[in-house]
This record gives sequence, C-alpha cells and structure tokens, in this order.
Amino acid sequence: MSNRFSLEGKTVVLTGAGGFFGRYFTKAFLDEGAKVILIDISMEGMESFLKEYGNRYQLFFVDLYDRKEAQECYDQIIFANKVNVLVNNAFDFGKKTGFNTQDGKLGNATYEQLLASFESGAYWAIQATQTVGFAMKKHGSGSIINISSMYAISVPPPNLYEGTDRFNPPGYSMAKAGLLQFTKYAASFLSPEVRVNAISPGAIPNLEKKAHNSISENDPVLQKLSKKILLQRMGHPRDLTGGLIYLASDASSYVTGQNIVIDGGFTIT
Ligand SMILES: NC(=O)c1ccc[n+]([C@@H]2O[C@H](COP(=O)([O-])OP(=O)(O)OC[C@H]3O[C@@H](n4cnc5c(N)ncnc54)[C@H](O)[C@@H]3O)[C@@H](O)[C@H]2O)c1
Repeated sequence: MSNRFSLEGKTVVLTGAGGFFGRYFTKAFLDEGAKVILIDISMEGMESFLKEYGNRYQLFFVDLYDRKEAQECYDQIIFANKVNVLVNNAFDFGKKTGFNTQDGKLGNATYEQLLASFESGAYWAIQATQTVGFAMKKHGSGSIINISSMYAISVPPPNLYEGTDRFNPPGYSMAKAGLLQFTKYAASFLSPEVRVNAISPGAIPNLEKKAHNSISENDPVLQKLSKKILLQRMGHPRDLTGGLIYLASDASSYVTGQNIVIDGGFTIT
C-alpha cells in the first residue's frame, strides 16, 4: 500500500526553523523523506543533528524584518527549487512585539509594537506566500501551512500573568487571528493548484533549554494554564508533527482553507 503521508522527493521551505518548534518540524520533515530549506535569523547548534541527513537540507540566515533580504532569499529559493510545501512558522517573541514587558500591556502597547506584531505574525507569511505560493501555483501544486495560535481563537485571561514577568500582548492575538483569515483568503486565490491551511497550537512551553522562551515546569503561568487543558498536560512540539505532516502530504489532498487546532482542548472550554 502506498504511504500517502510520505514526503519522499518533496521540498519544504520552513521559516523559524531554528526555534523550539522549528527543530522538531525540521526533523519530522527530514524523517518523512523531504528536502528542507531552513530559514531563520539564527540556527545555533543545528548543524550537528542535520549532519545525519546528508545533503537534504539548506540553510538561509535571514532577518525577516528586512523585507528586501527576505525577498532575495525567496527569489533565490524558487529560482533553484520546485517547492512543494511552505511552512510559515517564524515569529518574533521579543520586546519589539511587546512580549514579557510592562510596556506591551493593553494600556501601554505602542504603535510600533502592534506594527511589529503584524509584520511578524502575518506579513512574513504573506510575503512568503506572494513569492513561494505563486511559484507553486505556476508549477501546478503545493501546500502552505501557517502556524497560528490558540490565542487567535481565545485570549489570555488577565490574571494569568499576575505576579510574573511574563506577558502576552494584544498584537499577538490580533496578528494570529489575521493570519487565520489570510489563510482562507490565500486558499481561495491560490486554488485549485495550491492548498493553504493553518495549525493553531495550544500551550507548548519550551522546558528544554535556556532560550529566550524557556520556562520552568513550576512556573505559576503554566500551573494556571494547565487547569484549562482538557487532556491535563502541556503540549510538546511532537504533538503538532502529525497534523503538520498530514497537511504537507497528499493525505490531505482535499483539505484547504482550514485551521487544525492542536491544543489538548484548551479553546473549547
Ligand atoms: N510555543 C508555543 O506554545 C506556541 C503556541 C502557539 C503558537 N506558537 C507559534 O509557533 C511558532 C513557533 O513558536 P516557537 O515556540 O517555536 O518560538 P521560537 O521563538 O522558539 O521560534 C521562532 C523562531 O522565529 C525566529 N525569528 C524571530 N525573529 C526573526 C526574524 N526577524 N527573522 C527570522 N527569523 C526570526 C526565531 O529566531 C526563532 O527561531 C510561532 O509562530 C508561534 O507564534 C507557539
């Protein structure tokens, strides 16, 4: 029987490839047989695990805020490759978008923070779609997967961050909700050749390593969040890879304009 989930012979472009999810996504795509083109501003320590996969990967170090640099990267990629899958996964979780800072809160959030949230949470996906998505349409097939968030559908309760330095700003929900609507818009205009779908992950904390988004298992934010999760545990990036491979592969050949929510039931209560 043929494996409809196989990505053998397919080329995947993945943004935010050096991040927490990006590393698991890269590995999942490589394990399914794909060639992966990785884009990120930083991909520290990735070469060691990528070495196992021979020459089935290529790295592009790009600051996606630099629209010219990003455009040159996408143009170079589509010139040299027939891309089958595009995953828009990068997001800037820094102070620029108002994360984990008092001045990111609703009463204080600046125009610049909201604009950066839009750029990072929606425009980066739009720019990649305009280039790579249209190249796929020209080639006659392709799948685009936009990584949105549970906070595109629900919102953080105000007491979640009380007594901590953490904060999830209004621009994040705004941009990720916009990304879901853009997913449907692009699905309409790129059809029938290209399918465009989204994944909305739930609470998937980085408990692994000292990174900008690392958090301790005992952090009060996680304790409060976990009470709302029907499956009674935090998510892991591996919880997303089944949906990711499904949307990337021929197994989802009749699915477009959809959003798969992978959140342990967080958003239905
Ligand atoms: N972790 C979660 O709980 C969670 C939940 C819902 C949605 N998401 C979404 O999943 C995606 C991945 O999140 P993550 O937890 O892996 O975060 P992460 O910060 O570990 O990964 C994001 C990646 O984007 C890259 N990036 C940031 N600014 C960039 C720039 N200017 N140019 C190029 N690359 C840049 C970072 O370097 C990083 O590697 C994001 O879109 C996020 O919104 C995450």
